Amino acid sequence: MPHIHPKTTPIYQTSVFAFEDLNALEQYFGQPGQSYMYTRYGNPNTDELAQQVNKLEGGAGAVATSSGMSAILAAVLAVCKAGDHVLCAEDIYGGSSALLSQELTRIGISVSFVPSADIYTLKDYLQPNTRLLLLETMSNPLLEVFDMARLAQETKQHNILLVVDNTFATPVLTKPLELGADIVMHSVTKYLSGHSDVTAGVVVCKEEAVLQRVQKVMMVYGLNLSPFEAWLAARGLKTLRLRMRQHCSNAVAVAKYLQQHPKVEKVWYPGLEEHPQYALAKQQGQGLFGGMMSFKIQDDKEAVNRFMQALPTIPFAPSLAGVTTSISYPLGASHRSLTSEQQQEMSITAGVIRLSVGIEEPEELIAELEAGLAAV
Ligand SMILES: Cc1ncc(COP(=O)(O)O)c(C=O)c1O
Repeated sequence: MPHIHPKTTPIYQTSVFAFEDLNALEQYFGQPGQSYMYTRYGNPNTDELAQQVNKLEGGAGAVATSSGMSAILAAVLAVCKAGDHVLCAEDIYGGSSALLSQELTRIGISVSFVPSADIYTLKDYLQPNTRLLLLETMSNPLLEVFDMARLAQETKQHNILLVVDNTFATPVLTKPLELGADIVMHSVTKYLSGHSDVTAGVVVCKEEAVLQRVQKVMMVYGLNLSPFEAWLAARGLKTLRLRMRQHCSNAVAVAKYLQQHPKVEKVWYPGLEEHPQYALAKQQGQGLFGGMMSFKIQDDKEAVNRFMQALPTIPFAPSLAGVTTSISYPLGASHRSLTSEQQQEMSITAGVIRLSVGIEEPEELIAELEAGLAAV
């Protein structure tokens, strides 16, 4: 084989790596990170993705996982065992709350949900066995923004870990580890990969000891990411900064347009001065407010249907953060697994539409939304 130097990392689409002899096997175990054995334990493509995200988030190291859900699972199981208790923000992705309240409770990890109003004063929710607080930098779907530095103070005071889902903000806006968080995780499926063609996750840790636990959970539970998905995600990650700038500037224009529209009752976007955490979002997001927003038309499913059907090209696709704009419906998709009381409490009603603003020309997006709203 000639000596070749590919500019990009090739895809190591292999489940296993061969060893020269027993000495090479001993070297693998004796010098961790120097060679590979089995893709479930580690692979150059998953390592490349993890290292790139770690660099962006400023951690001690990161572990790539098969999805955002498995990233949350790995983070919680790295820290908690049966008998432990976790705190979780009430305003969070429905899948995250379902994982905690419907699955981890079955294996002996209990959960209490903390309303946003109480998130900086946790003492009434703490138990002697509480291990961590899980929340999102910007909540899904109503874009509540949390103060990472204040939360880190509060969690440190109570000796619990701060675990942050940074999917909506991305490290381009906010680096929670630098503000005192202990673990950051992402649904890489979203902005980090950015093209709606990958399902992946990542966990970034501040402490080496926690990192090793996450690594072990990933390996023994089989939460690993495939080499090809890792390769695609690492490819997308290269343009993260550029994409985020366009997502964010488009979103400001779209939010302002929606806000003045007579058929729109409310817009949830941290980049609007009326947003209750506007100042915090501005400071914590380096002047950027992200590409996600929600807005409310009349509380009538048929009106939502008419809006969706009249959009010329924007699809109703229950995910987010791709380069092309899409809408989703929290009540019927991301927050479907919640009880109707929980949905009501979170203000997720029949007229709430979530908008993931892409990187198209802003005028095109506004023309599309205009067509949709005309049908409401
Ligand atoms: C904020 C947030 N965290 C985690 C997840 C779960 O990620 P995945 O779908 O990659 O498992 C999602 C999915 O929508 C999400 O929006």
